[in-house]
Amino acid sequence: MTKEPDAAKRIAQLRDELNYHIYRYHVLDAPVISDAEYDTLYAELVKLELEHPDLVTPDSPTQRAGGPLTEGFEKVAHPAPILSLANAFSVEDLRAWRTRIGRLLPDDISLTYMVEPKIDGLSIVLTYENGVFMRGVTRGNGEIGEDVTANLRTIAALPRRIPVDPASALAAPPLLVVRGEVFFPLDKFDAFNASRAEADLPLYMNPRNAASGSLRQLDPSVTAARPLTLFVYDFVAWDGVEIASQRERLTYLRALGFPVSAEARFCPALDDVAAAYDEWLELRNQLNYEVDGIVVKIDDRPLADGFGVVGKDPRGAIAMKFPAQEKTTKLLDVAVNVGRTGILAPAAVLEPVEIGGVVVRNATLHNYDEIARKDIRIGDTVIVKRAGDVIPYIVGPVFDLRDGSERVVAPPSHCPACGEPATQMDGEVAVVCDNPSCPAQLVRRVEYFVSRGAMNIDAFGMKTGELLIAQGMIHNIADIYYLDRDQLLELEGFKDKKVDNLLAGIEASKAQSADRLLTAIGIRFVGSETARLLLHAFGSIDALGQASAEALQEVDGIGPQTANAVVAWFADEKHQRLLQRFRDAGLRFAIEVQDSKSAEQPLAGLTFVITGTLPTLTRSEAKAMIEQNGGKVTGAVSKHTDYLVAGENAGSKLTKAVQLGVAILDEEALHAKVAAS
Ligand code: IVH
Repeated sequence: MTKEPDAAKRIAQLRDELNYHIYRYHVLDAPVISDAEYDTLYAELVKLELEHPDLVTPDSPTQRAGGPLTEGFEKVAHPAPILSLANAFSVEDLRAWRTRIGRLLPDDISLTYMVEPKIDGLSIVLTYENGVFMRGVTRGNGEIGEDVTANLRTIAALPRRIPVDPASALAAPPLLVVRGEVFFPLDKFDAFNASRAEADLPLYMNPRNAASGSLRQLDPSVTAARPLTLFVYDFVAWDGVEIASQRERLTYLRALGFPVSAEARFCPALDDVAAAYDEWLELRNQLNYEVDGIVVKIDDRPLADGFGVVGKDPRGAIAMKFPAQEKTTKLLDVAVNVGRTGILAPAAVLEPVEIGGVVVRNATLHNYDEIARKDIRIGDTVIVKRAGDVIPYIVGPVFDLRDGSERVVAPPSHCPACGEPATQMDGEVAVVCDNPSCPAQLVRRVEYFVSRGAMNIDAFGMKTGELLIAQGMIHNIADIYYLDRDQLLELEGFKDKKVDNLLAGIEASKAQSADRLLTAIGIRFVGSETARLLLHAFGSIDALGQASAEALQEVDGIGPQTANAVVAWFADEKHQRLLQRFRDAGLRFAIEVQDSKSAEQPLAGLTFVITGTLPTLTRSEAKAMIEQNGGKVTGAVSKHTDYLVAGENAGSKLTKAVQLGVAILDEEALHAKVAAS
């Protein structure tokens, strides 16, 4: 046992250190240590506090759930404590938990369990009154959380009204408060971080931080642009429903229309749980969300809840954590990749290391500032983390293992592909190759142009692009539409069928929508979302090309950086020539009157005016909700108004609407319209 003064010192040190890491993780969304490192420190503190119960202080991280609260959101008390879970790291730990439970039972009856994925996201608490989504709150410190209702309303998977299916035989309970986890889908994470790197924005360390950062935005339109989604898994408070088993609670939640993990599994005995854990070690890598363990819950909830709570952990459930998908390895070198906009991006070359069944040789480093910030040096032993199919990333170096031979990474002075000098623009993080005819950039531009999110020319692979560029048959992206059949047939491996396929694919792509073309031409900061916004505002690529930076910034979601990049792109004569050749080839430059995406949205094409005080939504929340669902909100009632959303104390607008015969909705009717999609 540690000597008393030493223990006191170490406990204080661990407490401070952990509190700092909690703050980095929960408030800043920028942790500096890995989850596994955190768990190790935390476990040490738990052990010391068990040995020295007199040294436990109220501010110890073991004494509270969640993290400190940030400013900026309204604080809301939860109807019941939002608990955490104790951790087990092995099947032995799981059996020890079962033994402890057994001692609390009068006769050691047999128990059944639910096993659910432990989603590594952000815990949220959703309140539904008479079926209407009223409020969503983060877990916060477990007692009080932050009201993020407006942001949650931007998440498509979140039911605005339950049951979601209007034809459902279920009745909405008077009160249902549920708990779930909001997460950032793994397949969207790399692209999202890459676009942030391109826009010189700070990167999110992992999908969990991206979820948390996205949900805690003060402006809901920022959240709306992020691909967040969620799963629910528990009741927090309820009235008018009595469902005792966890299995049936999940079934009920699913029937109401909540997203519930399809992987949740009933286990009749503890051995089945142990077997499920083994299967999960494989399964975890096949899902589109990060899972850091499984949650084992005693299926009989009243029984489980009756076992009470230790600290912040209920006795009736336990988390079985997976071994960390991170390893240490050597950073052999930092390679330089040339991006389509000329950005020279560093990429880690690693001594191959097996992480979670996959051999990892490369990791993203994003930009040179990131390398400097983490103080990563060539020759370092680094911690590499892998989650699902996300490109592995470097958590940071192991400073203690340095021997002095490590080399600081300097940004390149020249482009490795064309040899032209590299530049770094004032105030920007990115180092770029300015040479417009750099062959490496062209390869990337072509690759991007034909990619699935852009013109989607399946038959046009990366190899084809590289070959045609090397053969001098493509000098810019418009050349794709002027390829010569006979010339193609002369290339090695290009038989009739292959050439026909390729040309047919190219031909078909001419029918792609104008916003795909705008995405595909690759203006900096203009990804598919922004392209859609811009074209909806301006109608055509030509009209967009005429717009001033000021006019562009009037579009919701367009900032000065994007506006300037768009103006600069169109001002370039060689880009005008490029556009002319696209036009000559017959590509589409204008949007259709109604494109399919907006037609799917429940409020597409409808114009709303909001007036008076609504029972739950603020004016801006109502506006965000309408816009999120495809509707438009204007300030004054006219004959073009489809609906007036009226709350209490509605004045002249209501009178006008009545005069003009405009339909009037209250808040509930508005929710119903949105849910009716
Ligand atoms: S149950 C009393 N189920 O893991 C109920 N939690 O380390 C306690 N989590 O704070 C939570 N998936 O944010 C539960 N299927 C799941 C979960 C889950 C993820 C999170 C939750 C909790 C943390 C505990």
